[in-house]
Amino acid sequence: MMATAMLRRAKNSISRLASTGSGPSAPARVILSRLHASEAEAQQVEPKAKATPTMKIFSIYRWSPDNPSKPQMQEFQIDLKECGPMVLDALLKIKNEIDPSLTFRRSCREGICGSCAMNIDGCNGLACLTKIPSGPNSTVTPLPHMFVIKDLVVDMTNFYNQYKSIEPWLKRKNPPSAPGKEILQSKKDRAKLDGMYECILCACCSTSCPSYWWNPESYLGPAALLHANRWISDSRDEFTQERLEAIDDEFKLYRCHTILNCARACPKGLNPGKQITNLKQLQRIKVVSAFFSAIFL
Ligand code: SF4
Ligand code: SF4
Ligand code: FES
Repeated sequence: MMATAMLRRAKNSISRLASTGSGPSAPARVILSRLHASEAEAQQVEPKAKATPTMKIFSIYRWSPDNPSKPQMQEFQIDLKECGPMVLDALLKIKNEIDPSLTFRRSCREGICGSCAMNIDGCNGLACLTKIPSGPNSTVTPLPHMFVIKDLVVDMTNFYNQYKSIEPWLKRKNPPSAPGKEILQSKKDRAKLDGMYECILCACCSTSCPSYWWNPESYLGPAALLHANRWISDSRDEFTQERLEAIDDEFKLYRCHTILNCARACPKGLNPGKQITNLKQLQRIKVVSAFFSAIFL
């Protein structure tokens, strides 16, 4: 396109120059005819700009407690040229411009608050960190196997209660050396918390875990167990044995079968399955220690 325009401009300039005299001079006629030919060639060789599809259909799960009918998938078509790059941008565009009743959670829009977790084209993830998939259609549904409050908003009560049950705070038997003084930790001990403290409690892992789907009340699930291991691994915490005892249960801990769906789903790149394996190892060490204590003491 650009080359054709330049050729056309050059041709017009030469024609104007030539028309100021009695007619184009011989060299000008040669250039002019060459430019005519070049314009035709340029039009032939320039490939037509490829039309990229910019319209996309989002098929979104809809259900409202105000409407007793069954849940439905509703389609919304949007122009990607007029939308940001992330799935959350598309949802906001639909809500702002097409249907204000579309309901979903979001806050930070940068992968920190964990509130925009949902299932996008079959994979759990954060809408704000997931690029709009290529292709003409995408499906957006709530996190799997969760009770739906409305549209893409799920009830997180059970998930938060399970998190609360592992007592996610520092517990001490001995008070600090002086009231209000910090309890220090070496850099090496601090590094043991890497891969756990980054969790934002989005529930993408737990809701992708088949064991959690079948036993959501009794199995603690990968997120809560990752946090259990986080406090058990903390050098400042003095309730390690009690914490291990509290989760030493056929259902709370041992429903994990190390399939690692959780690691694949985590938008923060964490591996809850690995932390659960560590908890099982610590449980084995606890049993062996108790055995030898019983024999030798
Ligand atoms: S590794 Fe364990 S927690 Fe993770 S998905 Fe598999 S069963 Fe669930
Ligand atoms: S481990 Fe990952 S997927 Fe699971 S709750 Fe934490 S951040 Fe979300
Ligand atoms: S909006 Fe906060 S994680 Fe997506």
